[in-house]
Amino acid sequence: MYNDIEQARAAIVPRLRHTPRVGLILGSGLSALADEMDDPVVIPYRDIPGFHEPKVIGHRGELAVGLLAGQQVAVMRGRFHFYEGYSMQEVTFPVRVLRALGCDTLIVTNAAGGLRADWKVGDIMRISDQIFLPGMAGHHPLRGLNDERLGPRFPAMVGAFEHELVPLARTVAAELGVVLREGVYCMLSGPHFESAAELRMVRMWGADAVGMSTAPEVIVAVHSGMRVLGFSLITNLALPDGPPANHEEVIAAGEAAKPQFAALLRGILARM
Ligand code: 6GU
Repeated sequence: MYNDIEQARAAIVPRLRHTPRVGLILGSGLSALADEMDDPVVIPYRDIPGFHEPKVIGHRGELAVGLLAGQQVAVMRGRFHFYEGYSMQEVTFPVRVLRALGCDTLIVTNAAGGLRADWKVGDIMRISDQIFLPGMAGHHPLRGLNDERLGPRFPAMVGAFEHELVPLARTVAAELGVVLREGVYCMLSGPHFESAAELRMVRMWGADAVGMSTAPEVIVAVHSGMRVLGFSLITNLALPDGPPANHEEVIAAGEAAKPQFAALLRGILARM
């Protein structure tokens, strides 16, 4: 794995004009932020060993490295999902590469179903904690031999989402007039949208939003010593007695909330 990371890094670094400090993984419908970069170098995933071409509608497949709000960033336009058939190691490989490129902070975004009846479509939730259900059931990116060069055998997740960027995110949101929800993100493997019984179950477990990504990337970022800031865009309400979710509304909500989401991320980047 260490050599694979080095190979990917070697394919990327000679093309760069900036040394990224912050890595961003942008989820469904949210990748437009990457179009607002200055002086970007855009590298298709097919040019990076270990990366794959995304196959889901609404997801792109390129790494853009350049400036965003004056900050040197590496932006993943599109991610790899476990439900597409990738292993947890494949899903999280880009995080290793972002780290190897020099990023010490990871900002992750996703589209998620909201489990709170008092929340609205288009709300933005800072991920204050996570439940990595596939990981707890054995689909874990850190399963197997641990390479101490990459991180510790037993990384701790308590406190993983608490650091200096949290108050900054709250301040920026308040200044922009963006309501910033906070809550627990629960990753389920998908690709089905949950049954009513499954939604009731994760709600009882303390989840505020459900989705099909992000948790493995967060684990690997923490393992590799990165600060992590995560945001879920609530694209639909996933209530046991509500209407069923569908992919089209998820994409549409992403489009509608784009300006707010982009402003929030730009504001944070500008001041970190
Ligand atoms: Cl309702 N469930 C899951 N698992 N992922 C989602 C979603 C729901 N809405 C957006 N992404």
